[in-house]
Amino acid sequence: MEARKLILTGDRPTGNLHLGHYIGVLKSRVEQQYTHNQYILVADVQALTDYYETPQRVVENSLEVVKDYLAVGIDPQISTILIQSQIPAIAELTIYYMNLVSVSRLERNPTVKNEIAQKGLGKTLPIGFLNYPVSQAADITAFGGELVSGGEDQIPMIEQTNEIVRKFNRMYNTNCLKEASIYLSKVPRLVGIDGKAKASKSLNNAIFLSDPPEVIKEKVFAMFTDANHLKVSDPGMVDGNVVFTYLDAFCEDKDEIDSLKLKYQKGGLGDATLKSLLNDLLQNMLQPIREKRRLLSREYILDVCYDGTSRARKVSEVILNDVRNAIGINFFNKVKK
Ligand code: TRP
Repeated sequence: MEARKLILTGDRPTGNLHLGHYIGVLKSRVEQQYTHNQYILVADVQALTDYYETPQRVVENSLEVVKDYLAVGIDPQISTILIQSQIPAIAELTIYYMNLVSVSRLERNPTVKNEIAQKGLGKTLPIGFLNYPVSQAADITAFGGELVSGGEDQIPMIEQTNEIVRKFNRMYNTNCLKEASIYLSKVPRLVGIDGKAKASKSLNNAIFLSDPPEVIKEKVFAMFTDANHLKVSDPGMVDGNVVFTYLDAFCEDKDEIDSLKLKYQKGGLGDATLKSLLNDLLQNMLQPIREKRRLLSREYILDVCYDGTSRARKVSEVILNDVRNAIGINFFNKVKK
């Protein structure tokens, strides 16, 4: 049998995961684990490039994110869940790669450029933050990642990685590093309950997998619908209506959605009725996830992280050894040619 391709994916642990993550990446990771050798990286070092002043929160969020992974059905026996900071090879590879990338190249990375602007970093931009694509190249190559799964915002990271791989291999006359390709998540970004921007923790417009039932309900009933749909009998707009966006994303019964849309557009379907339907659907979907979350102890989560990280560390050490050999700095080992 052909070996399964190694797929690498990960998240910056900046908060619990929400419905946007669920539909965008978590569901596909659950499927991917049966067809690929999947590594899921909890990018705590990457989160620290931004949240270095509150490391305790990064640690807590890391464990919460792993809880979310397990609650949605990621199986730690099948997928390798690893904590980035506990893989020393990643830090060492980052240092070697930094020599191969110019500051101006990093400043041109569109994803980083956006984030710098959004966060208003300007002259206070830490080197660590600007450098995170290089560190991500180390994440990817440390395990010989062939595929990187994620959204479009990860494409510049993979391009950066492949430039480093090519330059490294050429410079040190080796082929020990492998280029990676994107395994694109095709699901568009989920809009927030306000309908203005994508769902995110910082905008306070997301429904979290860990939200209790009354909070889910409150958020559903606060969703933006159609500002001109005042009476039940008024015809309403479906486009840009967040309740319909969520029904499209989460309701399997497409015929039911179509008939609801028709009724809403004609007039005669009230927002409260529509929101009740979505609330029931989300409550049913999230109840078992929340229940599973509740049963996962901190000790168990730590065990899962320890096991996955230990497995991953062994893989990374083989690659790190090849890299040191290629550069020729394996002082105390015989350099294998
Ligand atoms: N950059 C990703 C994010 O913004 C997280 C991440 C770090 C990652 N290292 C990775 C994703 C390696 C895929 C592969 O969430």
